Amino acid sequence: MAATGSLPLMAASFFFLLLLCLLQRGSSWASELRHPPSRIGVIGAGIGGTSAAYFLRQKFGKDVAIDVFERGEVGGRLATVNMEGRYYEAGGAVIHPLNLHMKHFVKELGLSVPQSRNGLLGIYNGDEFVFEESSSNIWNFLKLLWYYGLNSLRMYLWVEKILDKFMRIYRYQSHDYAFSTNEALLHALGGSEFVQMLNQTIDESMQTASFSQKFIREMVTPVMRVNYGQGVNINGFVGAVSLAGAEGGLWSVEGGNKLVCVGLLYTSKAQLIPGTVISLEETMRPKGRSGGTVKLYEITYNSTSGVTSDLYDIVLIATPLHRKIANITFRSFKPPIPDFSSPYHQTVATFVHGHINTSFFGYQDPSQFQLSSIFTTENPNLFINSIGIVSPVQDKTREFPGSPVWKVFSSQPLTKEQLNLLFSSYDSVEVKKWLAYPHYSPPEKSPPVILHDRMYYLNSMEWVASAMEMSAISAKNAALLAYHRWYNRLDRIDQEDLHTRLKTEL
Ligand SMILES: Cc1cc2nc3c(=O)[nH]c(=O)nc-3n(C[C@H](O)[C@H](O)[C@H](O)COP(=O)(O)OP(=O)(O)OC[C@H]3O[C@@H](n4cnc5c(N)ncnc54)[C@H](O)[C@@H]3O)c2cc1C
Ligand SMILES: *[C@@H]1O[C@H](CO)[C@@H](O)[C@H](O)[C@H]1NC(C)=O
Ligand SMILES: *[C@@H]1O[C@H](CO)[C@@H](O)[C@H](O)[C@H]1NC(C)=O
Ligand SMILES: *[C@@H]1O[C@H](CO)[C@@H](O)[C@H](O)[C@H]1NC(C)=O
Ligand SMILES: *[C@@H]1O[C@H](CO)[C@@H](O)[C@H](O)[C@H]1NC(C)=O
Repeated sequence: MAATGSLPLMAASFFFLLLLCLLQRGSSWASELRHPPSRIGVIGAGIGGTSAAYFLRQKFGKDVAIDVFERGEVGGRLATVNMEGRYYEAGGAVIHPLNLHMKHFVKELGLSVPQSRNGLLGIYNGDEFVFEESSSNIWNFLKLLWYYGLNSLRMYLWVEKILDKFMRIYRYQSHDYAFSTNEALLHALGGSEFVQMLNQTIDESMQTASFSQKFIREMVTPVMRVNYGQGVNINGFVGAVSLAGAEGGLWSVEGGNKLVCVGLLYTSKAQLIPGTVISLEETMRPKGRSGGTVKLYEITYNSTSGVTSDLYDIVLIATPLHRKIANITFRSFKPPIPDFSSPYHQTVATFVHGHINTSFFGYQDPSQFQLSSIFTTENPNLFINSIGIVSPVQDKTREFPGSPVWKVFSSQPLTKEQLNLLFSSYDSVEVKKWLAYPHYSPPEKSPPVILHDRMYYLNSMEWVASAMEMSAISAKNAALLAYHRWYNRLDRIDQEDLHTRLKTEL
């Protein structure tokens, strides 16, 4: 009797001990994680890296040290080119009116947005203009209706519907929700329909939505060529982003879009470390008084003072991990970090201060030529993607008297002969060659956001779509993700059905 009587007691005390152990382990584990990180490293000071610094500061507070590594100039693909003392956007140039992060940055940083001027657009197929805008809006509308039926109106509605769903990201992010993959993020915005857009071309997406071949060839393709240097075989999602960019109200920052990056770096009180990151490695270090070890990331970089290393709790990679772009070696990770060197598309921006050769475009009488931008359809004989007049980033009134400055996009640098065909005369030429954006080829698989425990890859988002706002969205997502994972707040990650839940919460 006695023996059986003590059995429940023994069992109870055993479970009590077990519980105590678990609680203790749990609490020491939790307290280790609740301890704020002391240093965060960000690689790249483009709009992705600098907005990440800004969002990291917001989330992690004033005490964490944030270091931003930059090999070249702050701004990255937001850069200006100097032409005879005036500056022009050479990379990312225009921002959509509904790009809310960019809008917020500009407001918070006290930057200004100049009035943009709209010129007339023509679409050239290599032999003739298939469409030419005139200064009468009614006339343009009727012309579109005559050429393409209801396609352009339907396209506007189609893009609007996608944009509407896309805008949900701002509400999710303002409520602190993060996603561990770009697919999960897309799914939360627009369900499998959105994820599916990565699997097909914009051509397929629009044909499914029964847009006409002629419309896709003459209206959609030229927009893809000017925005992404590629045709309608890019994925449906980036295609839709590109079409949204063809709407009105586009803006840019007075003094240059890169000023946003400079400003974000400054307000985030991050430290800029000029240097080239060469390698990343996970290392174990003793934890000080409490004993045990702590896992840190070692960033090795090259600067004017030679090759140095520093240790970080969290690392954000805000550059494409392409060998020709970042060339970062991941040392001794288990499992190894895969190679993400998928191809980037080359786009060359050529700035020409001179007179366009109107007869090249079929206008024998230059005074008849009113266009200020020319987009092109797919034609192997065409050596340009687009050509258009650009204004300087500062003081738009300070344009050159006489001949304007033209910006030409092409995939290869223009030869002397090609320049002489395009321009009847010119004073100067500046060239900026970019590995500009991914070379899209659906079905697209976005690389992971989480590369390792506390190491995040922002530019994986470029495989969904490459744009300033996409980098900023990815930066905020990575900052939130890093925060929630550090403090083990898993209820803020990859939540389903946020759209309906947040509706009822408010
Ligand atoms: C010609 C062109 C036109 C475009 N037009 C538009 C447009 O009109 N609207 C729009 O929204 N977007 C446009 N884009 C796309 C947009 O510019 C990019 O999506 C965006 O700027 C990417 O920003 P990011 O910070 O993610 O990358 P990046 O700007 O490329 O920043 C990465 C930074 O990391 C640095 N870096 C790389 N490797 C290392 C290393 N090993 N160590 C240290 N530093 C390193 C680089 O120097 C760079 O500064 C355009 C792009 C190009 C090229
Ligand atoms: C997209 O295609 C890949 C294979 O290329 C497939 O594994 C995936 O399930 C597809 N996704 C959707 C949403 O259809
Ligand atoms: C570091 O930079 C210097 C000059 O900038 C260069 O000569 C040297 O080869 C670089 N070292 C490495 C390891 O990249
Ligand atoms: C990348 O870096 C390695 C060493 O870190 C170097 O040997 C190689 O030449 C670099 N590649 C490019 C394309 O710069
Ligand atoms: C202009 O274009 C026409 C037609 O392509 C070409 O014959 C001519 O050589 C070009 N150059 C000038 C300076 O007119």
